Amino acid sequence: MLVNAKEMLEKARDGKYAVGQFNINNLEWTKAILLTAEELKSPVILGVSEGAGKYMTGFETVAAMVKAMDESLGITVPVALHLDHGTYEGCYKCIKAGFSSIMFDGSHYPIEENVAKTTELVNVAHALGLSIEAEVGAIGGEEDGVIGKGECADPAECKQIADLGVDILAAGIGNIHGVYPANWEGLSFETLAAVKEAVGDMPLVLHGGTGIPDDQIKKAISLGVAKINVNTECQLVFAEETRKYIEAGKDKQGKGFDPRKLLAPGTEAIKAKVKEKMELFGSVGKA
Ligand code: 13P
Repeated sequence: MLVNAKEMLEKARDGKYAVGQFNINNLEWTKAILLTAEELKSPVILGVSEGAGKYMTGFETVAAMVKAMDESLGITVPVALHLDHGTYEGCYKCIKAGFSSIMFDGSHYPIEENVAKTTELVNVAHALGLSIEAEVGAIGGEEDGVIGKGECADPAECKQIADLGVDILAAGIGNIHGVYPANWEGLSFETLAAVKEAVGDMPLVLHGGTGIPDDQIKKAISLGVAKINVNTECQLVFAEETRKYIEAGKDKQGKGFDPRKLLAPGTEAIKAKVKEKMELFGSVGKA
């Protein structure tokens, strides 16, 4: 059964570990992540960007697939189905489709408009039992065509948004989506500590989990991060293993072209990557 993300993230915050949000793109991704979470007895959040939702023919399809798969695979660990970087309209579509959690990314609006829209969505989400994440300070890099610079959030704005009753807060601390450039300066722990000080107990989210060094991940968790988003890293290992399979000519041997065979090495690579991250984040055995 899908659950909202509030309880699992409050437990993570109190237990000083983080729950991974792994973005899904298709059936293989979803199956790989669910099976790994179950094997490791870890709670998990399946993230769906608006672009990935569209690719999978809409949020209704995604919700139906995830619910059915969760049941068919006999998954017992807590699973949240979460809209990633949702627009105002996207949030309503996911609420209607049966998601258990949403993120409203109003970070590009003037703060007054972000406050007004977030307030409305908090009320709707909570009335229907969903958890809601909000964002302050744009996360850098490019995701689904949305480009941000990697700002550090203003702690006072974080408090303003946190006070609206959101359950989870994403604050920019120099993190960016995608692969970090060689000259990246690393996470701003000063900002993270100031945000934590301003918002108190609120579980914080670290976007752009791909490529952040392990010691920085651990420090971020110790300073209040309870949810870490990973997308690109799973895509990279999937592409790498699929390429190796084809370059080795395995698609031309016997029925190696069968998609169930062709996509298997990439799917196994996603499982291994998710396992590595769950171990790093400390969520293993916490379901
Ligand atoms: P990466 O693609 O850098 O792992 O970021 C994922 C993310 O933050 C999704 O919101």
